[in-house]
Amino acid sequence: MQEELDKRRPGRTPLDTPRKERDKVYIFSGVMEDDITTGTPVGLIIPNDVIEDEHINKHKSYKEVIRPGQAGYTFFKKYGQFADNIGAGRASGRETAARVAGGAVAKAVLDTMGIDVIAFITEIHGIKAQDNITYEMAKANYRKNDINCPDLEKAKEMIEELQRIKEQGDSVGGVVEIIARGVPAGLGEPVFDKLQATLAHALMSIGAIKGIEFGAGFGHTKLKGSESNDVPYYDEASGRVRFKTNRAGGILGGISNGEDIRIRVAVKPTPTISIPQGTVNMYTCENVKVEFNTRNDPSICPRIYPVCEAMVRIALLDALYVAKGYRAISSNIDPRWDLL
Ligand SMILES: Cc1cc2nc3c(=O)[nH]c(=O)nc-3n(C[C@H](O)[C@H](O)[C@H](O)COP(=O)(O)O)c2cc1C
Repeated sequence: MQEELDKRRPGRTPLDTPRKERDKVYIFSGVMEDDITTGTPVGLIIPNDVIEDEHINKHKSYKEVIRPGQAGYTFFKKYGQFADNIGAGRASGRETAARVAGGAVAKAVLDTMGIDVIAFITEIHGIKAQDNITYEMAKANYRKNDINCPDLEKAKEMIEELQRIKEQGDSVGGVVEIIARGVPAGLGEPVFDKLQATLAHALMSIGAIKGIEFGAGFGHTKLKGSESNDVPYYDEASGRVRFKTNRAGGILGGISNGEDIRIRVAVKPTPTISIPQGTVNMYTCENVKVEFNTRNDPSICPRIYPVCEAMVRIALLDALYVAKGYRAISSNIDPRWDLL
């Protein structure tokens, strides 16, 4: 858990927010001294131990004004004067520490089944890594630079761009790609809980993610059927049906087909920037101009990929539970088709 949390922790690299949170996880239930779970729910606490008055007072001083791109206005409409105003509460990226800790538990289970989930950055502010980064390349170059981009040359350009943007007090977005390898065919439900629907739910629930694609995604709109279809073949080596291409991104009919699950998510620029912007004072209904000078990241991308890994692991483990449970009670399925 701590290893996973350390990937997301702020203040790790010069590109991150200057906040230095330790993100130390304390386990208070469900695990014995020998690191074995007891079956009781695993209870965790991750204290927010960098809470200086200066930081809180700065947030308080902005409490009446809408921070453009932030959740302040919509939280105000929903919770009124009770909305958290000393760091944005549940709209803060801080909330994602709990997701990463939970994802580490899912990882421990998935590891035993040979299912590996890896996320990495392929684009920052329009600077793109090479096309079709393979699982092997992503694995070999995992976290070799501060932004976890497996294209090591392009990563240098991306880092330079982030440094430039940081100096301007501005921020940029980018693309995170996720590959899940070793997922057996047969995960996912056929109608409402299609695997792409539950994965999208998991990923789109992370703040700042504004788009998602599976496989060729929006690229399918430019292809003919003959170009979009992945051609199946029988693979002697693995003894299973495989596909010559993977434009489906590993899911057909809402159910995994045994190929890599490939997902791309769009991450918007960090909303809080140190540049004056027009806004509204919600209490006085005045149009005002404010510079929100708090601590923030020039891009969320370098800190969001571990959160993406965690959410995909959690969604896949949920799908595995359902699929295994279904198989356990459908004993009349011919075992030859049973790939789980
Ligand atoms: C890991 C992570 C870190 C974030 N850090 C910041 C930050 O430093 N400053 C900021 O304004 N928003 C940050 N956000 C984004 C906001 O949480 C998010 O954009 C905001 O709540 C509005 O929600 P929406 O963009 O999903 O609509 C972060 C999000 C994540 C997932």
